Amino acid sequence: MSSSGTTALPRPLGLLAELTHRCPLGCPYCSNPLALDPRHDELDAATWARVFKEAAALGVLQVHLSGGEPASRRDVVEIMASAHAAGLYTNLITSGVGVTKERLAALADAGLDHVQVSIQDSEERSADHIAGYEGAFARKRALAADVVALKIPLTINAVIHRANIARVEDLVTMALDMGASRVEIAHVQYYGWALQNRAALMPTREQVDAAVGAVEALRKRHHGRIVIDAVVPDYHARFPKPCVGGWGRRSLNVTPAGKVLPCHAAESIPDLEFWSVKDHSLADIWISSPAFNAFRGTDFLPAPCQTCERREIDFGGCRCQAFALTGDARATDPVCQLSPHHDRVAELAAQHEDRSYSYRRM
Ligand code: SF4
Ligand code: FES
Repeated sequence: MSSSGTTALPRPLGLLAELTHRCPLGCPYCSNPLALDPRHDELDAATWARVFKEAAALGVLQVHLSGGEPASRRDVVEIMASAHAAGLYTNLITSGVGVTKERLAALADAGLDHVQVSIQDSEERSADHIAGYEGAFARKRALAADVVALKIPLTINAVIHRANIARVEDLVTMALDMGASRVEIAHVQYYGWALQNRAALMPTREQVDAAVGAVEALRKRHHGRIVIDAVVPDYHARFPKPCVGGWGRRSLNVTPAGKVLPCHAAESIPDLEFWSVKDHSLADIWISSPAFNAFRGTDFLPAPCQTCERREIDFGGCRCQAFALTGDARATDPVCQLSPHHDRVAELAAQHEDRSYSYRRM
């Protein structure tokens, strides 16, 4: 690690470890790229163990074992044990399908600290339809019960879109009934598969306003019983989110095949050069790789960000969204009401199509 680089750079806090892109579910808003990594390209457990040690040395505190479905890997328990041995706080992000009671117990013995289960809807038929997998809802509920029985903290992640936005209250009630300590009302972000399905997923302005009001009321009603995390969905916001806490500032994302990305959708920006953990240490990648340095800081931002007092708060928004909507990854995120392209966002937010989903499949 070069001394000049480390003093100037922030240290990452979180590592998203995408162990595999394989997943039994086919959610139409999956954040994985459209071109999924095949099984034969996946990093082996020994390489993940090295990556976790390097991450801890770099300052990372938390690792999110994700996918796809991380339990699609036969060696997920061994991988979990190596993350724990590296001193990282471990979070398993799971669809709930493929994690049996026995496997969960083995993961707990290996050092599992926290589980996040995704839920597609509070109504079983709708939930299974959205997941593209019959029986998913029942298996998720069973896993959540097993997690709580083992006294492992549980977060329910409810991805919100037009088909389920009317049931935000039911989803929070369900998370409480399941024994979760936290529920994320996570509006769909339009990258990857969700971008393909945007018009089928996009809620109306009226639905969004009602959901925002519902969350405020639910927070008051359930204060002290469950933490409710929610943000206004991008296309209906006035200012963008500080995506990934700022490019190359807080987190790293390692793909199943070993490429290291500044965010999960970074591969959607053409001409970025990503380095792999197969060829470089994580510290080298963090400090010197072209992709991590492409949009670090705020110097590259155009007007109106350059003179805006929010530029150290939101870093001009999301680079992937700026590219998806303007063709220029350096542009102000068009979600911002000050962006010259903001009208385009309003136009897209008003486009709704009642058509079947294009499911995410390998
Ligand atoms: Fe953020 Fe740029 Fe909009 Fe200011 S102009 S709020 S820095 S995106
Ligand atoms: Fe890539 Fe926001 S998803 S910067």
